[in-house]
This record gives sequence, structure tokens and C-alpha cells, in this order.
Amino acid sequence: MHGATLRRHFLRVLAMTGTGLVFGRWNGAHLVQAAQQEKTRASSHEDEDAKGEEVTAVEDLMREHGVLRRALLVYTAAAGKLRSDPATVAPEVLQKTAKLFRAFGEEYHEKKLEETHIFPAVKRAGGPAASLPDILITQHQRGWEITDYILAVTQGAKGGAGNAEPLAQALDSFVLMYRQHAAREDTNTLLVYVNDCFGDWSANAGKLTDHALAGRAPDAVEPIVPREDDPFVIKARHSIFYQTQVEYLLRQEGVGRITLIGQVTEQCVLYSALDGYVRHFEVAVAPEAVAHIREDLAEASLRMMETNMHAELVSASRSAV
Ligand SMILES: [Fe+2]
Ligand SMILES: [Fe+2]
Repeated sequence: MHGATLRRHFLRVLAMTGTGLVFGRWNGAHLVQAAQQEKTRASSHEDEDAKGEEVTAVEDLMREHGVLRRALLVYTAAAGKLRSDPATVAPEVLQKTAKLFRAFGEEYHEKKLEETHIFPAVKRAGGPAASLPDILITQHQRGWEITDYILAVTQGAKGGAGNAEPLAQALDSFVLMYRQHAAREDTNTLLVYVNDCFGDWSANAGKLTDHALAGRAPDAVEPIVPREDDPFVIKARHSIFYQTQVEYLLRQEGVGRITLIGQVTEQCVLYSALDGYVRHFEVAVAPEAVAHIREDLAEASLRMMETNMHAELVSASRSAV
């Protein structure tokens, strides 16, 4: 399949507005292609799919990430309990989860699939994506160290007693890193930030990020700070499409579907959804990843998007946000 067609097929876009965003990376297409080539190569030597339904290599990867994300849910829940009531955390549950992650996630998925087959193919393909595997491998190594720590601390009857806060921090950092890591590997999203400039025409990604980090909730901002190579578009009014380059960018990247996240639900998100819909983009919105000012209007807006614009209401985690 040609790269552009692949892109059209696989790219899904998340758009955060107000302080807005569209997700999905074209360099993901390289990972997609590499995964598919490796799958084709592997299946010519083995007949492992003979009994089951045929799935694409990308689906394979995403399904495996789906399994691993369940382990992350355990870690997130455990981190919260370790901080509020450590005695309620059964160390054997964390021990079993870490063992699953080690055996399935690290020894098989990362080492035997990604590092052996997919990453070398991405490097061979060259281009801007060729540097991505090094970052991903560094994250694998860091993840391995954290798993070592979790296994060590939760071993034995006493488990994590006395280590509650460091263990909670280790679990949180693992989840944060792995979510972003798997989203990059899933390769089906292009992330684009679309932000208001609040009348400051010298505003850019760095300046707006600094402003947000200096606000009342830097903890909420840190995980979504744009990377240097993330597209970042300035908007002046509510809609992400109004006199911006967003439509041109999405058409160039072959994007057909956008998922909106950000704020404000009953303003920028709603108007961006309508502008996307009238431009024949397939529109989705993640209710748990948008914020409102007026709850009654936000509820009505979500209904309007769903009913009038055929927007799909999706879970943010399903969209690999
Ligand atoms: Fe990985
Ligand atoms: Fe992975």
C-alpha cells in the first residue's frame, strides 16, 4: 500500500482546542509500513495465522498495547491507594502485574517484536522517523529499570510497606512514560496543538507553554506540553479552522477524522466540531478530555455534536491520548 494511502487509512486526528490539539504523526506511517513489511516477511516463513483471523501488524501492536494498558490501570489505581491508604495495597497484585509486564511487555513485545523486527526496519527506511527508535529503546530501558524496582519492592510478605511514596512515584512515572510511548508506537494519531493567542501576536508554542505552566495547575499542563516537533497553530477566535492553517495541514497529512479535546466544550470545541463537520471531516470528541464553563451548556453541546454533526463520543484512553 502506498504511504499516502496508508496515512489516509490509519491516521486519526485528535484536536485540542481553546488550548487546542490535533493528534497523529506522519512519521507514524514509517512505523506502520515497517510493521507491515515485517509481518509479511514473518508470515512467509511461518503459518502462524493460519488458524485465526487475519489482522494487520498495526492491529497486532495496538492489541498488545491494549493488554499492557490494563497493567497500567492497575498501577494507576495502586499509586492512588499507596498515597491514601497503603495498607489496602496487596503487594502480590503489584508483583503479578510487574511479572506480566516483564514477561509479555518487555521480554516479548519490546525485545522480540519491536527491537528485533520493527525498529531496525524503521531505521533502514531513513527519514525523520529514523531517530525515533533510539528514543523508544531508551524508554524501554528505563521501563525495565522501573519494573526491576517494582519487583524488588513488592517481593516478600511486607511488600511495599515503608516504600509507599517512592513506589507510588515509580508507578506514576512508569504510566506517564508508557502512555506516551505506546501512543507514538501505535502511530495512528497526528497531534496538533491549536491555541488561542489572547491578542498577543508574538505568542508561540514556548511562550504559551510557559504561561500555562505558570498558572494554577502546572501538574495538569506538564503531561501535555508540546514537543519541539509537534505542529503548533495559533488561532484568534473560537474555531480551530477560522483563518488558520489547520485545514491545509490536515489535508496535506491525509487526515479524514479529527478527535477534539481541550477547552471550552460549549465554545471552542463545539464551533470547531461544526467547522470540521461542514468541511467533511469525520468528527469525534472525547468527553472526559474536554472542559467546560457551564455544565448545562456543555451537556447540550455534546448532544448537539453527536446528533447534528454525527460526532462520535469516544474515550480519551481509547484514542491513545
Ligand atoms: Fe516500545
Ligand atoms: Fe510497544
